[in-house]
Amino acid sequence: MTEQVPIDSADLDPERLPAHVGIIMDGNGRWAHERGEPRHVGHTAGEEALFDTVEGALEAGLGYLTVWAFSTDNWKRPREEVRFLMNFNRDLLQRRAGELDERRVRVRFVGRRGRPVPRRLVQMMEDTEQRTAHHRRLTLQVAFNYGGRTELVDATRQLAAEVAAGRLRPDDIDEEAIAARLYEPDAPDVDLLLRTSGEQRLSNFQLWEAAYAELLFTDVLWPDFRRQDLFEAIAAFQGRDRRFGRVRSR
Ligand code: IPE
Ligand code: IPE
Ligand code: MG
Repeated sequence: MTEQVPIDSADLDPERLPAHVGIIMDGNGRWAHERGEPRHVGHTAGEEALFDTVEGALEAGLGYLTVWAFSTDNWKRPREEVRFLMNFNRDLLQRRAGELDERRVRVRFVGRRGRPVPRRLVQMMEDTEQRTAHHRRLTLQVAFNYGGRTELVDATRQLAAEVAAGRLRPDDIDEEAIAARLYEPDAPDVDLLLRTSGEQRLSNFQLWEAAYAELLFTDVLWPDFRRQDLFEAIAAFQGRDRRFGRVRSR
């Protein structure tokens, strides 16, 4: 039997990296449950997974990484869990924004920022964005209070307002016009979309941006995910034949 050699970032083809990787960080609750612990223990353990993955993204030379931390539907969870997640994310930013800045990571938040997201968390998000805005090494987008349909609703409202104000004609609305009004219009499309924990669904993530994404589902629960898993996903991506409606390229 041949021993499986783990993939290293050096094994990846730097010419064919995905321009934008999206990760649905799922499975924290189950990870905690397996250990007989309450759900928040899984969220806490997810921090190391995230920072190791960011290191992996830097090592591999990725340009954009979007991770989903809280969905517009996650407000339906028990109040204690929601409160924990708000405080946890605020504290995490407070503790680790400096490190991201030192690593020259540009951090941005995608999603709705108004209520019920606590003001102090929004303040931390905006501080972190301002502090890291000049970096160009890796852009880390944290999807928070994010929903793909909500993003399209917000873009549509903007288009409608511009039409009503006479600045835009309905006939001028095309794919570019919509894409230009998404939360981060300058980000490239997601071309590798990863979900942990074995669930095989989008759950309303990056509906527009991931139109042609290669989808990859792993059984690894998010708190166990490490940069090695990211490298393996990128290697799998590099083995795929992306056609965008055309005939086979090879
Ligand atoms: C993902 O893990 C984290 C968030 C959605 C905030 P879950 O909390 O969804 O974990 P499972 O799916 O219940 O295991
Ligand atoms: C999606 O995971 C949201 C995040 C990872 C933040 P969920 O665990 O909320 O999705 P469902 O409920 O299983 O579809
Ligand atoms: Mg889940």
